[in-house]
Amino acid sequence: MKMPKRKPKFSKPVWGIIIVAVVIVAVMPILGLAHFTTTNPSFCLTCHSTGETADMSQPSKVHPSYSVVSCIDCHADNGGYKHLITDGYRGGYSASPERVSSNCERCHANMISKDDTQGFQHNPLNIYIPHDKHMAIGAKCTDCHRNIAHDLNINPTNRPRMAYCFQCHSSQTSCTTCHPGGPPKGAPSTPIPPPALMPQTPSPDAAEATWQVKCSQCHALYPPGSHTSQEWSGIVGQMAGFTGSNITAEDQATIISYLNTVAKKP
Ligand code: HEC
Ligand code: HEC
Ligand code: HEC
Ligand code: HEC
Ligand code: HEC
Ligand code: HEC
Ligand code: HEC
Repeated sequence: MKMPKRKPKFSKPVWGIIIVAVVIVAVMPILGLAHFTTTNPSFCLTCHSTGETADMSQPSKVHPSYSVVSCIDCHADNGGYKHLITDGYRGGYSASPERVSSNCERCHANMISKDDTQGFQHNPLNIYIPHDKHMAIGAKCTDCHRNIAHDLNINPTNRPRMAYCFQCHSSQTSCTTCHPGGPPKGAPSTPIPPPALMPQTPSPDAAEATWQVKCSQCHALYPPGSHTSQEWSGIVGQMAGFTGSNITAEDQATIISYLNTVAKKP
């Protein structure tokens, strides 16, 4: 007696479909993992909130949560949208002003031609800010909004700091240029460099420029006249020791050489 054949009788095309389906089911978790590890903010934070790099774990007070505007929206090429599965990874992640600002412009294209505070939803200190003039002279969004997502200042606001403005504006600029209603009342939440000590524009002095760039990475610049030379050398050493400070021994010497010329007399 013959046993019936147990192999199911599928036509060739049906076998084809079954094989394709099996391959898809097998590949999906792999693609899913690739997608997760190249896009998911909580995965990024497994490294970027450990103190090994500048701490990115503080959520922004003014920007929507990472589920709306994610790490890759700002750091991947074109927000990652060109690269379906691995998203930003192919272009690598970058914090360069060119990369980040081009992503800001993608979502906030209307800001490039805004001429003042008209139509702003929030501008708590009523700063007069002609975006159009700044974009016309080639400013990058990050010149003023570099703390939009990661504000390492002692009192994080995620809003442009006054100190950032004085990287370009001269110390002679009248307060009412930016504060049309007069400077805000009350104790400032961050130290404001007294006008006489605000850096001149454009800075002719490379040492001063190094101080501006390196010492405003985490907080507004402290007035150079607020400490003596001796105090500064201790403070600069302490600051350089912080994780992610990006201040080399050579930078320290350069910064101290500048501060010595303007420090408080003992
Ligand atoms: C396994 C740990 C790890 C993970 C996960 C990780 N990073 Fe990084 N990332 C680093 C390290 C370390 C650096 C510093 C590299 C350097 O200085 O060259 C860095 C640098 C960066 C920079 C700065 C590059 C520059 O231009 O200076 C950005 C932006 C960045 N990562 C974004 C991301 C994003 C977005 C994710 C999630 C999709 C992510 N990282 C996931 C370890 C990690
Ligand atoms: C709204 C845009 C935005 C989002 C969202 C964002 N970043 Fe950033 N990121 C920036 C800006 C702006 C800078 C500073 C660029 C500069 O200083 O010119 C920066 C800098 C960085 C740097 C470099 C820090 C350094 O000191 O070199 C890393 C690393 C980084 N971001 C990682 C992340 C990670 C991880 C996430 C998600 C958890 C994230 N970013 C979300 C805008 C963003
Ligand atoms: C993926 C799109 C996207 C990217 C990229 C992005 N933003 Fe936004 N941004 C938004 C959204 C959405 C809001 C919330 C708007 C609202 O509440 O109406 C917002 C809000 C803001 C606000 C607050 C507005 C307010 O009413 O106070 C500022 C400031 C801002 N973004 C600046 C930036 C800057 C600077 C960058 C680049 C570093 C950037 N954004 C990158 C989508 C984006
Ligand atoms: C010269 C400095 C400067 C530059 C450059 C700049 N901004 Fe602003 N921006 C400001 C200031 C100051 C405010 C208002 C003060 C505040 O947010 O507290 C503001 C406000 C905003 C707001 C809030 C608008 C609202 O409706 O509340 C958005 C969004 C914004 N900027 C996006 C951008 C984008 C995108 C770029 C790059 C195309 C850019 N900014 C370039 C200084 C600047
Ligand atoms: C990258 C350099 C740069 C930065 C940073 C910068 N500015 Fe300017 N700003 C300029 C230049 C250059 C002009 C002159 C543009 C013109 O007249 O066409 C200008 C013009 C202005 C004007 C118009 C002045 C007038 O008389 O019409 C205001 C107001 C202003 N800036 C406010 C700010 C504020 C507020 C900040 C900080 C949040 C800031 N700027 C940061 C370069 C800068
Ligand atoms: C080039 C533009 C500009 C000029 C000129 C300027 N400011 Fe400001 N100022 C700003 C910006 C931008 C902020 C918002 C800072 C923030 O939100 O942290 C600010 C904030 C402030 C605050 C509140 C600070 C805080 O931390 O709460 C005070 C007080 C202030 N300015 C005083 C002055 C005085 C006094 C002058 C004149 C000597 C002056 N400002 C000139 C741009 C300017
Ligand atoms: C990596 C981030 C970071 C950088 C870069 C940085 N600082 Fe600081 N700074 C901090 C922190 C955090 C504190 C608060 C420290 C504390 O409370 O002990 C601080 C506090 C200060 C203080 C007040 C402390 C005191 O004793 O009065 C001064 C002044 C100061 N920094 C100056 C500087 C100078 C100058 C530079 C450039 C050489 C610089 N910072 C660079 C993070 C930084």
